[in-house]
Amino acid sequence: MIENNNDLINKFTALAVDNMLYKSKNKLLFRAKQVFGDIDLKDKSMLELGCGDGVYSIWAKINGAKRVIGLEPEVDGSTSGSAKIFTELINNLNLDNIDCLPQTIENFNPNGIKFDIVLSNMSINHFDENACIKLNSNLDAQRKYLGIFNKVKSTMKPRGKFIILDNSNKNFFGIFKKRSPFCPNINWRKHQPPKVWIKLLKQAGFGEAKISWPSRYCCLLSLYCHNIISYFIDSFFRIEVTLLEVENG
Ligand SMILES: C[S@@+](CC[C@H](N)C(=O)[O-])C[C@H]1O[C@@H](n2cnc3c(N)ncnc32)[C@H](O)[C@@H]1O
Repeated sequence: MIENNNDLINKFTALAVDNMLYKSKNKLLFRAKQVFGDIDLKDKSMLELGCGDGVYSIWAKINGAKRVIGLEPEVDGSTSGSAKIFTELINNLNLDNIDCLPQTIENFNPNGIKFDIVLSNMSINHFDENACIKLNSNLDAQRKYLGIFNKVKSTMKPRGKFIILDNSNKNFFGIFKKRSPFCPNINWRKHQPPKVWIKLLKQAGFGEAKISWPSRYCCLLSLYCHNIISYFIDSFFRIEVTLLEVENG
């Protein structure tokens, strides 16, 4: 029998390592801290967009979230079978109020649920890859992502948090169109820097953005690193924005 939250966290991290989702328990703990920062998960509801194997959705649930939905449609950018792993983890840990749905954000119907937190870890650029490539200069591409951000907004509570993590293409290797040894699978064309996302987020009605650089290569130093150091490695960024309250009248 699982007795307390620490037992559950230990069981989950062991399962994640067994399933080769993380090399070690410490790496998972470190990454989860980078992803959620100082956000208090207790009694919160969370929607994760393109959740893959659902590690962060499960992390939120076992750290106090009351309701979690992970959307994993297994489309662009996906690893086949990730939704199955997520569902198996939920079952193995005997968790309730957490679901993996095979839906895109565009097709998702929240049935009236409003979320405190929406998370997109390494999925934002895949929602519409063709639009993402042209996002800096093409109005149609910007309209597509504005539509997606408005959809995200419609699922959120006022003052809710939207957290986005991805690699920026403003990177030492990216500008020379070279593969980075630190993140060899990144195709720089399909990524954008934080300022491009933040401009659209503001247009959609989100407030001031907090940006940090949670490189996995700085793990011995601190959770986040300096943006210049990040520029020479993986340019992995974290944006946190708050949904502004709409004033009546
Ligand atoms: C690179 S994977 C990241 C998976 C996971 N978040 C992680 O960190 O391992 C990107 C994910 O975004 C999902 N995705 C692509 N388009 C989507 C959309 N329109 N709505 C929701 N998810 C989407 C894909 O199915 C894929 O699993």
